[in-house]
Amino acid sequence: MTASALIQAFTQHFDAAPTLLVRAPGRLNLIGEHTDYNEGLVLPGAIMQAVSFGLRLNGTDKIRLRALDFDKSYEVAVADIKPLEHGHWANYQLGVVAGLLRRGAEVPGFDCAFGGDIPSGAGLSSSAAVECGVAWGLNEMLGLGIDKMALAHIAQKAEHEYAGVMCGLMDQFASVFGRAGHVVRLDCRSLDYAYFPLDTTTCRLVLCNSGVKHSLADSEYNKRREECAEGVRILAKKNPAIKSLRDATLSEIEAAKEEMGDVIERRCRYVVEENARVEALTQHLEAGHPLQEVGELIYASHNGLRDDYQVSCPELDVLVELAHEAPGAYGARMMGGGFGGCTINLVDSAEVDNFIAFMTKGYQDRLGLELETYVTTLADGVGELTA
Ligand code: GLA
Repeated sequence: MTASALIQAFTQHFDAAPTLLVRAPGRLNLIGEHTDYNEGLVLPGAIMQAVSFGLRLNGTDKIRLRALDFDKSYEVAVADIKPLEHGHWANYQLGVVAGLLRRGAEVPGFDCAFGGDIPSGAGLSSSAAVECGVAWGLNEMLGLGIDKMALAHIAQKAEHEYAGVMCGLMDQFASVFGRAGHVVRLDCRSLDYAYFPLDTTTCRLVLCNSGVKHSLADSEYNKRREECAEGVRILAKKNPAIKSLRDATLSEIEAAKEEMGDVIERRCRYVVEENARVEALTQHLEAGHPLQEVGELIYASHNGLRDDYQVSCPELDVLVELAHEAPGAYGARMMGGGFGGCTINLVDSAEVDNFIAFMTKGYQDRLGLELETYVTTLADGVGELTA
């Protein structure tokens, strides 16, 4: 959404102009899926698709929200905020305000109109963008001086407590810390991070939207988290130094196989293997190895997510199968929580059009479904929206 369109819509609705405009991006993740809440490694980046916000203090005790994309409003006194019913769009904003209040911040009434171009339910973290945009915007507007990592944590907590998804830190981290042209590796235990340039003259990142909205995702997501925690409990009996799956080795998992049973063992093995793939992939990027090697790791990640972590779905699997045959594809996998949403595809820049044509036809032929694709670029994290 352009700054002028946002100012116009805001002013029309609230009868006053916004005093701050914010842009908060969605995210992609090159590799490192379902590792964040296991204290592991992830390699996300912020994308050009974003949510934009107009904000101003309104001189009352009320928060007034306006969702421009779906024409809905919500109003509540700051003192009265609490989680709304599951799935309510205002939960993300309210959860952030609750987090700021908990830190002792004084939050007066404010107006907020927002809208953007991150397709919802596509696994591109539109919800994290909403949380991070509001967190960053209020921090700026109120001069709270909260650092960026703490803002990402406040946004993550909003997801836990107001949206009911026990997510890791990846999405909010990426929306806050993204850097144009780079992916960023986050160590979710130490919170150390490092940027890696992705040379988009040789390859592009193409997202293929399965069109399946990940409705199952919330409950299955929380279940995966519990399964991993159960794995850690079993592993820690033999080795108390194991506090998370980050500490476990494949041989320790193998040795605990019997007590774990097939399902838990698969979940644990996947996480340990995925962490190793993140390490390997960043080494390839650093060393400038051929993109085929990067792509192999991305394909392997999908196999693990499909077979061992079991968070894929038939449509995503078809998209990855098609990518194996598609012109210019180096690697493809499902991305994000799973059960729908997008695949991420690493594609030779010169072949992007052919790749998209092949995928679109293949998805139609195999499943009778229309494919939406986005050739995305890596963008900066949350910040002021300028004209
Ligand atoms: C969702 C969560 C993230 C992460 C991914 C899976 O996007 O919000 O924290 O766990 O799923 O990697």
